Amino acid sequence: MKKLVCFALTLLMLTALLAGCGSSGTTLADVKKAGTLTIATSPDFPPFESLGEGNVVEGIEIEILNTICDRFGVTLTINQMDFDSVIPGINAGKFDLGVSGISVTEERKKNVLFTDPYCLAAQAIVVTAGSPIASKADLDGKTVSVQTGTTAEDFCMGEGYDVMGFAANSDAEAALVTGKVDAWVIDDLTAAEMVKAYNAENGEGSLVILSEAMTTEPYAFALTLGSDDLAAEINKIINEMVSDGSIAAIFEKYDAPYTAPHN
Ligand code: ARG
Repeated sequence: MKKLVCFALTLLMLTALLAGCGSSGTTLADVKKAGTLTIATSPDFPPFESLGEGNVVEGIEIEILNTICDRFGVTLTINQMDFDSVIPGINAGKFDLGVSGISVTEERKKNVLFTDPYCLAAQAIVVTAGSPIASKADLDGKTVSVQTGTTAEDFCMGEGYDVMGFAANSDAEAALVTGKVDAWVIDDLTAAEMVKAYNAENGEGSLVILSEAMTTEPYAFALTLGSDDLAAEINKIINEMVSDGSIAAIFEKYDAPYTAPHN
């Protein structure tokens, strides 16, 4: 009899343990216990995250994360990957936070939990000098390059363009430069940064960003579903940094125009 009760109790405890695993997500206590916040990022997205000297990941989002980690009293651990692996990795609970200029969408909300947004962005069209494409309407029936798994890809497919997807942003840019596509669609601030760098090397006006921006997209960080505790703690810091101007100051440091998330 004693044995049976003992067995039943063990079974009960095991079930409770297993149930706890899948559903609770990451808490701030988990992160503090680990002593580090582990992020997943695709560092091909200046000024938000890119590889600087010595291949160190740097950018606006890394600076925001450094503040968050300081406040939590933990270090930052950076895992690099292609953009289309970031959200699946977070969904599978492999990392604490997806940090990749991720636009909040209803579709993505089914797979990950978003923090509050910290800025607004848009999609921009980039063409080569002398291109006949002058506005979005001119893209009908044209071939465009995008980064795989991005909102640019979704948007362009939705519009019925002929879409070529590339794992790396630099390859989407190269497709335009080498004439494989008629236009490149990419988030506006990254377009500005990459086009500036390209034109500095290849001559002003080699690549042109059209003035008509498309879509409005809030950027936020992504967590594994169920990580509401950690999300709430991160939100406190994000909202404070939005209202006290420290996020705007980071954008300014990177020469990037800042649009607050709620306007
Ligand atoms: N904002 C866009 C999206 O969420 C593009 C993000 C690309 N990020 C990157 N690190 N390459 O789909």
